[in-house]
Amino acid sequence: MPPQNTSLAEGAVDDDVSSHKLSLLKRRRDVMTSANILFYESSKQELLVERAEGQWMFDEEGNRYLDLINNVAHVGHCNPKVTAAVTAQMQKQYTNSRYLNSAVIEYSEHLLKHFPQELNTVLFCNSGSEATDLALRLSSYYNGKSEYICLKGGYHGHVQSALDVSPYKWKGGAVKQPEHVHAVDAPDAFRGKHKGNYAGEEYAKDVAEVISRREGKISAYIAESILSCAGQILLPPGYLKAVYKYCRENGVLTIADEVQVGFGRVGSKMWAFELQDVVPDIVTLGKPIANGFPMAAVVTRREIAEAYWKSGSQYFNTFGGNAVAAAAGLAVLKEIEESNLRQNALEVGEVFLRGFEDLKQKNDIIADVRGFGLFLGIELINSEGLPAMEEAYFVRNRLLEDRVIISVDGPDENILKLKPPMCITKENAEMVLEKMNAVFNKLK
Ligand SMILES: Cc1ncc(COP(=O)(O)O)c(C=O)c1O
Repeated sequence: MPPQNTSLAEGAVDDDVSSHKLSLLKRRRDVMTSANILFYESSKQELLVERAEGQWMFDEEGNRYLDLINNVAHVGHCNPKVTAAVTAQMQKQYTNSRYLNSAVIEYSEHLLKHFPQELNTVLFCNSGSEATDLALRLSSYYNGKSEYICLKGGYHGHVQSALDVSPYKWKGGAVKQPEHVHAVDAPDAFRGKHKGNYAGEEYAKDVAEVISRREGKISAYIAESILSCAGQILLPPGYLKAVYKYCRENGVLTIADEVQVGFGRVGSKMWAFELQDVVPDIVTLGKPIANGFPMAAVVTRREIAEAYWKSGSQYFNTFGGNAVAAAAGLAVLKEIEESNLRQNALEVGEVFLRGFEDLKQKNDIIADVRGFGLFLGIELINSEGLPAMEEAYFVRNRLLEDRVIISVDGPDENILKLKPPMCITKENAEMVLEKMNAVFNKLK
C-alpha cells in the first residue's frame, strides 16, 4: 500500500526534475484523479520506471534501483519465462473464459498440488479485491449468514465488500465500519495488549467473544496469514489454531488472505497459513500469482464452491481464468519450483534478519525486527516510546537516494517494509544492510 500522502496530488514539484518527468507528472494530473496517488511525496523522488529486470528497476536516465517492495514481480521483473508463456498463449487464443480452455485446467491442477488435499477447487478472478468479494460471498452462500469478523488495521481490497472488512480504510469519512462487520484487535504480541507465550490464545478469545455475542450470525472470519498493512505483524504461535477452533465449533468459515504473503514468500512453506499449522476453509490469492499479469483466485473445498451454484447463481467472470493469465500463472509456479525460489527466500531472508538484528543492537530507534523469508519488517520507536513515522520516511527516502527502494507501512507508518522479488541475492542483501547502516548512523 502506498503512503497516505497528498502532496503530489496537490501539485508539489521540484526545480531540478527532468522536463520529461515533469511533463509526465503534469499530463498524469490532467487526466487522472488525485486519489490515484504515487509512491513518493515529491516529483524529485518519484521514480519514472522505464524498464525493469529481475530485482532491478531502471529510470529514464538508465539509473538502476534495487526493488525491495515488489511482491507482484514475484519471480523477477519481466521474467523471460513468464513473458514467453504469455506471448505464446496470446498467439494461440485469448478469449472469453466461458469456452473450454486447457491452460486454466492445467494451471488449476498444478496449483492445487501445493494445497492440502481438502482445498480442492479453484475459482478465478482478476484482482485480490475480487477474490475477497468472492470469498465473502461464497461463505454467505454456504452458511446463509451475513456478518463477518476482521482484524483492526487489515486491508483486503478496494471493492465495497472488501472495504467493509478493511479497517485500514475506515478513515477519512468515505468508508465507515458497517454494522455487519466486527473488527477485533490485531494479534500484535510486540506492542499490543497481550504478550508472551499465551498471546496467541489470548487474542483468539476476542474472536470467540464476537462469535458468542452475535450468536449464529457470523458467516466468516477473514485475516491475512501475516499482517501486512496492519504492521508486518507475525501471528503469535497458536493464534489461528485457537481462532479456527472457535470458528469451526460455531459454523463460522475461515478465510486466509494470502494475496501479499503467498506463493512461497515465507520460504519454509508455500502459504503463510501453514506456519500456524491450520487449514483454512477459503484462501484468496492475487498479486504475485501471475507476476503482474492481472489474475487472482479463490481456493476452497468443493462443497463450499458448490454452494454458489446451489444458491441459484452461475459464476461468470469474463476475464477470470482466461488462458493468458493461466499461462502466466503456470510459468510463475514452475519458476518458483525450478529455480528453488523458496529456498532462496529462506537464505536471503536469513541474511536480512541477521543484519537487522545487528542494526538493532546499534540503533535504539529500532524496536523490533521480524519476518519470515522475504516478508520483513523493522519497527521504529523514538526515544519517547512513540511510533517513529518521520524517521521511517527519512530512512526510506535516504535509501532511495542510494537507489534502494523500500516502503513504510503500518497504522502508525513506522514500519520499514521489505518484500522484494524472490530472485534477490545474498549479495544484494549485504549491499542493502551496508547502506541501511549508513542511513541509521545519520539518524543518531
Ligand atoms: C492483503 C491484501 N488483500 C487484498 C488486496 C487487494 O488486491 P488488489 O489490489 O489486487 O485488488 C490487497 C492489495 O493491496 C492486499 O494487500
